[in-house]
This record gives sequence, C-alpha cells and structure tokens, in this order.
Amino acid sequence: MDDESAVDLDPALDLTRPSIARVYDYLLGGSLNSEADRLVAGRITEAMPDLPAVLRANRAFAVRAVRFLVEAGIRQFLDLGSGLATAGSVHEVVREAGVDARVLYVDNDPVVTAHNSAIAPEHSCAVLTADVRDTTGVLGSLQATQLFDFGEPIAVLMVAVLHFVPDEDQPADVVARYRDALAPGSFLALTHAENAEQAPGTFRAAQVYSNDVARIHFRTRTEIAAFLDGWDPAAPGLVPAPDWRPEPGGSVHPAVRQHGLAAVARKNRP
Ligand SMILES: C[S@@+](CC[C@H](N)C(=O)[O-])C[C@H]1O[C@@H](n2cnc3c(N)ncnc32)[C@H](O)[C@@H]1O
Repeated sequence: MDDESAVDLDPALDLTRPSIARVYDYLLGGSLNSEADRLVAGRITEAMPDLPAVLRANRAFAVRAVRFLVEAGIRQFLDLGSGLATAGSVHEVVREAGVDARVLYVDNDPVVTAHNSAIAPEHSCAVLTADVRDTTGVLGSLQATQLFDFGEPIAVLMVAVLHFVPDEDQPADVVARYRDALAPGSFLALTHAENAEQAPGTFRAAQVYSNDVARIHFRTRTEIAAFLDGWDPAAPGLVPAPDWRPEPGGSVHPAVRQHGLAAVARKNRP
C-alpha cells in the first residue's frame, strides 16, 4: 500500500508481513500491496505462472454472480472474506446495475477493513472486522447495524475464503449456520480451491503460500459440494469458475479450469 490510491492507514497496521488480501490484490494487477506481498507473490508465480489468470477468473465469477443475484431480486449482500474492495467489488457491481442494495463487508484482516471503511459508501455499506467462523458474532453485529432486513433474502458471498478454514473448524457447519439464519430465497455464492490432479508447480506454489502467507486447504469436488447442503445450485451447478455462466466471447486457458470450483445456490428450506 505504497501508492496514492491507498487510503491513509493507521501506522500501527503491519504491512511488513505478506497478507492474503494484498497478495491477491497484487496478483490481480492492483496497487494496494507492499514490498513483502510482491516478493512472495513473485515466488509463488514462479512455481505457478497460471495463478494470476486463476485469480482473475475467480474475481470475474464474483462479478457475474453479483449481477445474477441482482437480477434474482437480491438487495442485501453479506460478503464474507471480502478482500480489499477494489474494481469489481460488490457495491460497485450493484451501483453499475442501477439498484439500491446494502452490503456488509466482513474480513479478519484489519488492513482490509480500514481500506473498505474508507471507500465504501456510508449510506449503503458497513464494514466489520471479524472471522467468518464466528457466525454468532458476525450475525449479531449485522443485526445490530440494522443494515439488513432478516425477513428478506440475503446473499452470502464466500468467494475464495472457505479454503482458509481448516477441517477442524468444520467449515460445512459454518456455512450451515449462516444458511439457517437466513430467510428462504436467500443465496450462497462460493468459490473454493480444488485439488484436482495438482501439477507439481501448483503443489510448490501452495507450499510457499501456506508457509509465507496463510495455510490453504485444498478440497475435493465432493468436499466442496458438501458446503451446498440445503441449497439448490442454480444452473450450471458446481463448476470451474470460468464455466459459471460465462459472458459471450470470454475465453480462458484450459489450465485455469483445474484450480477452483464455483456455485451460486438458493436456500431451499425455511
Ligand atoms: C483471496 S481473498 C478473496 C477476496 C474476495 N472474496 C474475492 O474473491 O475477490 C480472501 C479474503 O478472505 C479473508 N479471510 C481469510 N480467512 C478469513 C477468516 N477466517 N475470516 C474472515 N476473513 C478471512 C482474507 O483476509 C482475504 O481478504
């Protein structure tokens, strides 16, 4: 975060250790990152040159998913593990769609929430520093803001965040607790890193990432599908992120399809 597009951050915030959000920002071509983030990102992409394309496909999915949810009538978005709100963030996509919607950005990285608080429109957005696993805390804080009407459908976005939650923290239960708190007709949009036939480069990149940034938990298709229990996936179901309702003319390298699955699904019971 050393260019003029960064907001003024509390000097006590530590930018000397790489962070998930800032490494992601750098690999997406953003400028909200520090030397430490760029150094580790360089080592990771040396092992896995496709990674920036994989992450762009993830972000592009998130944009298409929010547009789909707006079309489906959703006006309340709970973005869990939001990352830095930059190009393609939920409030921007919603604004471009010309609708009035509310957004709660949640992240456990205080640098992310400081940035998002500074740039998100106050009348329609709130920002919370919290761990997605703390469902009681997140839902309680959300209720306290009175930003959302819990009687109306809410879209929960868990885009590229569940693979930071280890099995011992029961990520499927975490998802289910959010599901159970929401009105019927609510939605879940998720992406998750998949360990389909990992190439040696991907394996090495994941090792560097886990050692130097954050531990990442790859899961199988069956394990990722379990997060959709109690939700009805919209067509085309749980698919590689670039294949979820691609825009006409969009194309990606086949290798990008092997790294992550995506779905948007509707809560199917009270
Ligand atoms: C790879 S970024 C994804 C950002 C955005 N969702 C997207 O896909 O474009 C993952 C984000 O999740 C956040 N994160 C990771 N583990 C988390 C947790 N347990 N609770 C809250 N946020 C978490 C990180 O700080 C980071 O900002």
